[in-house]
Formats: sequence, C-alpha cells, structure tokens
Amino acid sequence: MNTLTMQRPDDWHVHLRDGSALAAVAKFTAARFGRAIVMPNLEPAITSTALAAAYRERILAALPAMNEPAGRRFEPLMTLYLTDTLAAQEIDRAKASGFVHGVKLYPAGATTHSDAGVTDIRHVYPTLARMEELGMPLLVHGETPGPEIDVFDREAHFIDAVLAPLLERFRRLKVVFEHVTTARAVDFVRAARGGVAATITPQHLLHNRNAIFSGGIRPHYYCLPILKREADRQALLDAATSGNPRFFLGTDSAPHERAAKESACGCAGMFTAHAAIELYAEAFEQAGRLDRLEGFAAHFGADFYGLARHDEIITLTKEPWVPPVSYDFGAGALVPYRGGESVAWRLEPAARA
Ligand code: DOR
Ligand code: ZN
Repeated sequence: MNTLTMQRPDDWHVHLRDGSALAAVAKFTAARFGRAIVMPNLEPAITSTALAAAYRERILAALPAMNEPAGRRFEPLMTLYLTDTLAAQEIDRAKASGFVHGVKLYPAGATTHSDAGVTDIRHVYPTLARMEELGMPLLVHGETPGPEIDVFDREAHFIDAVLAPLLERFRRLKVVFEHVTTARAVDFVRAARGGVAATITPQHLLHNRNAIFSGGIRPHYYCLPILKREADRQALLDAATSGNPRFFLGTDSAPHERAAKESACGCAGMFTAHAAIELYAEAFEQAGRLDRLEGFAAHFGADFYGLARHDEIITLTKEPWVPPVSYDFGAGALVPYRGGESVAWRLEPAARA
C-alpha cells in the first residue's frame, strides 16, 4: 500500500505551550489534525474557564493561515488543570463554555509543571463528583511520583493506589488514562468498566527504553512516563492496532528548548508534532495493520468525547522524507524527533478550496 487515505485525525493529548513557543509549534499540529486536546500545564497553570478562554484565543491567533478565507479551521479543545482547590462550580462554568472538554489530573510532582497538581486525590472528590454529574472527562497522568517508587513502576503503582479505587468510587466518571506505557495499563484499560479509555503516543509504539541509552545517554528520548520494556511496547502496539475503541491517538508532543533537554538535568518531553500522523503510520505498518489506523486516529477519540467525526480526508504517501535537525523555537532551537533521519510516510498537502 503506497497511499493511505483516511478521515482527518485528531490529537487527543498535546502540549502547545505559549508565547513564542506556541507560535513555533502550533502549525505542525494544525496541519495534521482537525482538533487537539490541549494540555493546561502552563506556568501559571490553566485553572479556570476564563484562563482557558484566553489561552484558546492565543492558540487561534498563532495560526494566522487558518484564518484566511480558504483556511481550514483547527479547533483547540481546552482543558483545566486540576488542583487541590479547583471548585466544583468551576466545572459548571467549564461545561457551559462549550470549549472545555476535560480536566487534567497531574499528581503533584509527577512531571513537567505538575507542582500545582493534586497532593491527595481525596481533596478533589467534590470536584470529581460534579464532573461525573456533568459528563466532564477526567484526563489522568497515571504515575505515582516519589523517591521510594521505581521510575519504571510508577504507572502500575498509580493503577493500584489511585485509579482502580477512583473508578469504583465514581462509577460514571469518564476517564482517559493518558499515554499508557505498559502491558499492565493496557490490560487494566481493556478490563475496566465502561467510560474508560486511553491514549497512546508514537514514541511508546516505536521505541523501548533502550532508545534512551543507545551508545550513550539520549536526552531527546526522555519523556514521562518513561519508555518501557520491549514487551510493553508490543502490548501497546497490539492495543493500538486491535480496533478496540478504548485506545486512541494522543501524541503527548511536548517541546522543550534544546538547552533544556541537553542538560545535566534535562526536561522530560519529546517533540513529535511535525511528523505525528506519519509516525503512527510507521508503527501501524510495522504491525501489518495500516487498515486500523483510521479508527485509532480519527474515530474512537471523537466518539469517546461525544464529538462529530470529520468529513474531510487526509492522504499519506509512502515516500521517505527527512525532518530538519532543528526548528526555530522562540529565541532558541527545538530538536524534533527523527531530525536528520528518515520518516517513511509523508503527509500530502491539503487541497485548498
Ligand atoms: O514528557 C512529558 N512532558 N511528560 C509530561 O507529562 C509533561 C510533558 C511536558 O509538559 O513537557
Ligand atoms: Zn502530556
């Protein structure tokens, strides 16, 4: 198969950042996806509907080509950052806005800009109850931080200590277990009650943890949750290509300036937005299941969030191309995943009306 045509996909988990970084990266996501669930871990975090509204405007303003008469509209789907003190009434405002589509749970200290996150899940029970009532999804960074828990076991620990009891307590709460990375998490999601889904990143489909250490330490392969074992990668590939609608696309593309990655204490996050759907095509082709990419990328997420699927189509061609070794990123540089190396699939430019 040398061309692949599918309904326009959506990215159900992306970091677009703000300011000059936003201006540098938003176009890559908008060129590929019709919509994206935009993470709220800015500094300061997006903790209210009013902040989400202003951020949404900044995202749209960063995409001038999209505002041309013939331009295609990209829709940022906004999220709120759950803190110990996020009021239940804010969920009412978020729901009424029509543009907030989820509330993100970062366990405090789990990852980049998670300091304002939840310190104890019991603190947010009233807010979760309101989300359950209003059908507002909870988007979960599923890792338990802390020096006593092995970095490779944080996802499993979170399932046992937080997620499983939470799903029991709030039986109707819609939950997306974001960027699952282990066979354990895949099994958990498969067997969970209704209303539970998971996103999977391209890097966790394409790499195991050896990538971080091949020939030396490779900071551009460091993300959280960290890459796992080969058996985990196989389980993720199996889940993504299974046709099970509980698993859908979420890149977790997370740009950091080059110096912040290539550092004695490098930031977590891989930038994949410049080749996102192309990379998923590689992974699905590896599994011999290119026919299942459309469901994973364009159908299941929309269905879960209760949004219409797109009418438009995109076309991918099996034609190698080489992303640049760096992109401009505000005052600095951004090292993209696979920069200077080959990507097997290419996105055809959209036909303009
Ligand atoms: O690798 C990551 N980077 N994981 C996250 O959860 C956050 C993200 C970021 O914002 O950089
Ligand atoms: Zn993320």
